Amino acid sequence: MRTLVIGSGGREHALALALSRDDGVTEVHAAPGNPGIGTFAELHDVDPMDGAAVADLAERVRADLVVVGPEAPLVAGVADAVRARGVACFGASADAARIEGSKAFAKEVMAAAGVPTAMAHVCEKPDEVADALDAFGAPFVVKDDGLAAGKGVLVTGDRTAALAHAAGCARVVVEEFLDGPEVSLFAVTDGETVVPLMPAQDFKRAYDGDEGPNTGGMGAYAPLAWAPTDLVEQVTERVLQPTVDELRRRGTPFSGLLYAGLALTSRGVRVVEFNARFGDPETQALLALLGSSLSRLLYAAATGRLAGVEAPRWLPGVAVTVVLAADGYPESPRKGDVISGIDAAQELDGVDVVQAGTALSDGALVTAGGRVLSVTALGEDLDEARSRAYEGVHRIRFAGEHHRTDIAARVPVRSE
Ligand code: AMP
Ligand code: GLY
Repeated sequence: MRTLVIGSGGREHALALALSRDDGVTEVHAAPGNPGIGTFAELHDVDPMDGAAVADLAERVRADLVVVGPEAPLVAGVADAVRARGVACFGASADAARIEGSKAFAKEVMAAAGVPTAMAHVCEKPDEVADALDAFGAPFVVKDDGLAAGKGVLVTGDRTAALAHAAGCARVVVEEFLDGPEVSLFAVTDGETVVPLMPAQDFKRAYDGDEGPNTGGMGAYAPLAWAPTDLVEQVTERVLQPTVDELRRRGTPFSGLLYAGLALTSRGVRVVEFNARFGDPETQALLALLGSSLSRLLYAAATGRLAGVEAPRWLPGVAVTVVLAADGYPESPRKGDVISGIDAAQELDGVDVVQAGTALSDGALVTAGGRVLSVTALGEDLDEARSRAYEGVHRIRFAGEHHRTDIAARVPVRSE
């Protein structure tokens, strides 16, 4: 099978890498990809936001399967443009991707489907925001309604800061605060059948001890030995399947990757957010553990035949992913710092380095974005995977590099 991956981040690198190692895959193309993907796949200088250009490329490379990675092209209808040419495409339609593109829409779908989530008010005026903040009390949760790459959300005890954050957005969702550990559960779906992957946990705050601003994610691990044993079953039944059914009922079936961001609260599982694409960096950890064919799974979803596909098989052990960020991330990442040591890190047993914010400049690999790259390691248990991952991290250098040192160091206690 010839495959084409759209996007340039760590998630796309991990997807392309898994496809390149898949027996069913003969070619991997990427647009625009990144220098890391370019070491094993053919890169094409095509704008991932341009549906017609992506569809042209899919035809030109005779792709059997196109995988659209990031949310922005999905929301912009790039998967629709590819499918309109009769090419199998894994990725949500623009209509279905609104589940991520608008938090207010996601709340509406959840209400219609009876999916448990935080109580919320959609506000457009400052006095509505003030009323909603007072109704829920501290800690305050204020979310920009639109796409904000994980950075539109403020959780704070400071009412003035909450109001200020809302003032900077056209429309906000003010929510009840959810306590309890967060879990990411991804499901592959063809709009009807739901195939959940393995739950993972990511670390959203920039600094150790869950301090600092929210980011796209500074690290991740899977599986979650502490999670309730029926978590996947429960979430599939109460969250994933009803949401997929509701979107189909509305005439906008969701075919692609449905990401449920969950809080395991003292009152049960609640949806924090939905995304319409694989999570980053959780995908790096999950794909390192996938023992069955990624191409067959995604192709079955893209062609509406998921009911007939074997369930994903997982390797034993644990995967830990640590993100290395650029100087100034997340506020104002610096570009152009020379990166070294990737090959040395990759020489370690069970370690993969996946690039995201990198570029080639006069033959040198340099930083070009906030989350520069990530190191994923497999191990027999969490301690082994962690120490291998950090051994890899320590072999990589660039000026201003920073990472969390506590990824998967303290995990929640088992809850039933
Ligand atoms: P979101 O973009 O909706 O995923 O929010 C980003 C992060 O903000 C989440 O992963 C949580 O850590 C935090 N967050 C969002 N909503 C809530 C909530 N209702 N209660 C507590 N924390 C939240
Ligand atoms: N790791 C969180 C996300 O991908 O949104």
